[in-house]
Amino acid sequence: MEAHNSQPTVSLQYVDPQVDELLKHSIRTQLESLLKAKLTTGQRQLLLKKSFVDAMTLVLSNTQVEHLQLVNTFEAMYDQAVQSMALAQLSQEQLTRQYVSASGLIMSPHNCKHTIKDVYRIKGYARGIDLAIQSKLKHSPSITILYPACGPFAPLLLPLLSYYKDSNTFTSQQINVILVDVHPGAILSLQQLIKDLQLDDFILRIEAADATEYEPAESIDLLVLEAMQHGFTKEGQLSIAKHLVKFLNIDGWMIPQNVSVRGMMVIGETEFNQQWKEVEYSHSLNTNTSAQQDRVELGEILNINKSTLLNMQELELQDGVKVIPASKIKLPTGVKDMGERILAIYAHIDTFADEGVEQYDSGVTHPRPDMTFYIDAKPRDVEHTHFVASSGDMVQFYYQLSGLPGFVPVKL
Ligand SMILES: C[S@@+](CC[C@H](N)C(=O)[O-])C[C@H]1O[C@@H](n2cnc3c(N)ncnc32)[C@H](O)[C@@H]1O
Repeated sequence: MEAHNSQPTVSLQYVDPQVDELLKHSIRTQLESLLKAKLTTGQRQLLLKKSFVDAMTLVLSNTQVEHLQLVNTFEAMYDQAVQSMALAQLSQEQLTRQYVSASGLIMSPHNCKHTIKDVYRIKGYARGIDLAIQSKLKHSPSITILYPACGPFAPLLLPLLSYYKDSNTFTSQQINVILVDVHPGAILSLQQLIKDLQLDDFILRIEAADATEYEPAESIDLLVLEAMQHGFTKEGQLSIAKHLVKFLNIDGWMIPQNVSVRGMMVIGETEFNQQWKEVEYSHSLNTNTSAQQDRVELGEILNINKSTLLNMQELELQDGVKVIPASKIKLPTGVKDMGERILAIYAHIDTFADEGVEQYDSGVTHPRPDMTFYIDAKPRDVEHTHFVASSGDMVQFYYQLSGLPGFVPVKL
C-alpha cells in the first residue's frame, strides 16, 4: 500500500475531493449491502466476532493451511471490520485525510483499513505475540501491552483478543491493552470495532496521541509495533520504537524482537519480474533459487531491537534534521555487471521466538528498489540526491529521522 505523494516537511495533504467521493463509495456500498441483508446488531456482531476468531484459529494452528483458505478467511474479517468502520460514521476528512508528520507518514483510515488483510504479516505477529503473552502470564497474574500506531482496526491484537475471549484462554483481568493512534478517524473506528467485538474489558485505554511523544503512566510488559513500509521508509517505526522502548519493564519485550534491514544489489528484471513468473503469489517460500543466487548481498544496514534502540545515538545536523548512524559497508569488488545492478533494501522481522515475517511475506518486508544509488555507473541525469560510488568504496549509511524517514549513504 503506497502513500499519496508525500513531502519532506510538516504539511497537510488532502486527497482530491472527486477521488474522495469514489473512495467513500466503496465503504457505503458495503454498508448498504449490510442493511439489505437486514441483520440485527446482534447478528452482525456475531459474524464479526466469528470472522476474527476464524482467522486466528487458522493462524495459530500448527497444521499447514492452504494459501487460498487463509486469504478468504482474512477477506471475511476485513469485510466485517469495514462495516464497523462504516458504522463509526467518519466524516470525509476523518476517513481520507493523510499527511506527513515530523516523524513520518500518517496514513488515512481509508488506506490503513487494508492492513487487516495482510495475511502473513498478521500471522507472523499474532503467533509471536501469542507466545510472548503465554510466556509472560506464566510468571505474572496480569500484563500491560502497549500498541502504538495501531490504525483503525488494531489488527495485530484485536483478532487475538477475540480468540482468547472466545476460547477462554486468557481473561481481561490478565491482559490490559493501551492502544495509541494520532489519527482521529482511526480512534473513532477503533472505538466502534472494540464495542462491536465486546472487547472493552481488555482495553485499558485508547489514546489519541502522537506515539513519538506519548508517555504511558504504566510500565509496559509488551510493546507491539508495526509502523513500517518496504525498505524501512516513510512511516515512523524507528522514531516510535526509540521513544517508547524506554517505558518497557526491565524484562519487557518489544515485538518485533528484532528487525534486520539489509541491502543487496540486484538485476531488477530478475529480482522483481522473472523470479515471480511461475508462482501464484509472492512469499518467502516461493522465491526462486537462481534469482536468489544472482543477488549480491551488501549485508545488514541497520539492526533494531530493544538493546540497539536503547543505545542508539542521534546526530543533529545543522538544519535540525536528526540522523542515526547505521552500518559501514565495503562495497563488493569483482562483480562484472555491478554497473547494471540496483540497490534494493529489505527487512527481515523476527516477531518473537521463531516467528517472523520474511522477505516478500508482506508489503512491509518486500525489497524496495532505490534508484538513486549507483555503483560503477553514472546516472543519466546527475541530481544532488543521487549517490555515485565505485566497487571497493567504504560507505557509511545513516537513517534519517524526519517526515520522510529513510537511508542516506555517504562515501567515506
Ligand atoms: C498502516 S496504519 C496501521 C498499521 C497497524 N500497526 C497494523 O498493524 O496494521 C498506520 C497507523 O499508524 C498511525 N500512526 C503513524 N504514525 C503515528 C504516530 N507517530 N503516532 C500515532 N499514530 C501514528 C496512523 O495514524 C495510522 O492510523
